[in-house]
Amino acid sequence: MDIAVIGSNNIDLITYITRMPEEGETIEAPDFRLGFGGKGSNQAIAAARLGSSILMVTCVGDDLFANSTMQNYRDNGIDTRYVKQVPGASGVAPIFVDPQARNSVIIVKGANNALTPDDLEAAAEDIARCELIVLQLEIHLDTVRAAIALGNRLNVPVLLNPAPATKELEVEWVARCEYFMPNETELALLTDMPVSNLDEIREAARTLLASGCGNVIVTMGERGVLWLGSHGEELHVPQLSVNAVDTVGAGDAFIGCFAHCITDGRSIEDSLRTANAYAAHSVTGHGTQTSYATAAEFKEWLAEH
Ligand code: RIB
Repeated sequence: MDIAVIGSNNIDLITYITRMPEEGETIEAPDFRLGFGGKGSNQAIAAARLGSSILMVTCVGDDLFANSTMQNYRDNGIDTRYVKQVPGASGVAPIFVDPQARNSVIIVKGANNALTPDDLEAAAEDIARCELIVLQLEIHLDTVRAAIALGNRLNVPVLLNPAPATKELEVEWVARCEYFMPNETELALLTDMPVSNLDEIREAARTLLASGCGNVIVTMGERGVLWLGSHGEELHVPQLSVNAVDTVGAGDAFIGCFAHCITDGRSIEDSLRTANAYAAHSVTGHGTQTSYATAAEFKEWLAEH
């Protein structure tokens, strides 16, 4: 196995709106799509479509979404031996996308909350064979902490994407990660520092490097991506200009592609540039995972751009 993704799965309920309704108002929206989402699953699917072998550690409910989520993993060649099923609702995410392709997301964690440190221990032998553990914050924080500790114990590097943002994650856990990949909001919340320009973002990221984290990679939307490494490396990759129709899941496309490239033996710089292009491609299509290219589709798109 290349990558163990320990994280969430959701069903995304994406409504394409012309504007948000006022309180008490009912408005009509032009379009709606139901699809597979959740930050953990999105990152897993992106990496799998690019050719990585993925061990998925997650939890589904016992509702009508559970079977289709399992089938989606199988369709993408993902190992589902550690997908646990519990009574109750699977995770869902009502999402609103406006005409400028900007999105607002609500998540209901549902079954994702039931993934426990014991579930990780049950998968430890297989996780030990992976080259990378990929984590986000849509599961219980105790399970995230246990996953970082497990990665350290097994000597498997950990990539942590601290999304959605929370103040509850202690910096001591960030320090134990090889790759820490926040956006500006998440970086600000964690460091309590301003992040309104590149210099401020650099300063905030440096405090995390000083704590012991290997690499801080900040995704900054229109401003691109900034990488600071613990050996003084620094790189700013500007955002590619494309015709965006839907930005839902673009950050996950970036992380999934980065995880694929880095476990494929590529340099951090090459992995970042490739992931930046993969994320740019993803915003040109509608939906979350439906906009993630396979290796062949991505290669073709790159040749044209
Ligand atoms: O990052 C996008 C994802 O956030 C969506 O797929 C949604 O499910 C939420 O987890």
